[in-house]
Amino acid sequence: MHQPALFMLLGLLLSVSAMAETTEDALDPQRQAELETLLYQDCGSCHGMTLRGGLGPALPRDRMEGFSVEALAHIIQYGIPGSAMPAWKALLSDDEARWLAEHLRTDNRLQTLQQD
Ligand code: HEC
Repeated sequence: MHQPALFMLLGLLLSVSAMAETTEDALDPQRQAELETLLYQDCGSCHGMTLRGGLGPALPRDRMEGFSVEALAHIIQYGIPGSAMPAWKALLSDDEARWLAEHLRTDNRLQTLQQD
């Protein structure tokens, strides 16, 4: 039976191609660490340090997946006019906003609001 090995190879290929689509490569590891700190501290000052919500709504991964990376990056860059959600364009490059958007949809520490 060679099927399990075939599936593993397929899985590997899929994860490699998924990785190639992210902007992870565009930013150096130190900047990525800074952005992660920014997300949980600066964004966290409104959305909660664990992103469970506060002045701003909770940002769990399962809800963030409902947005495209482009939509999230746009919200981050331009804010939400008429609300307390500020624009981050002066502080973040396009790649950095995309990194945060991808992080919210994939590496988000808060998977779902139901999580303990
Ligand atoms: C000063 C407070 C504040 C800060 C800081 C802040 N936000 Fe927000 N954010 C809000 C509020 C308030 C809303 C809801 C706006 C509305 O639709 O009424 C929001 C909405 C959002 C949304 C849309 C959520 C949804 O379900 O519609 C996302 C995504 C988001 N913020 C991400 C971020 C990220 C990423 C950062 C950091 C780069 C950040 N926010 C920083 C206040 C803040």
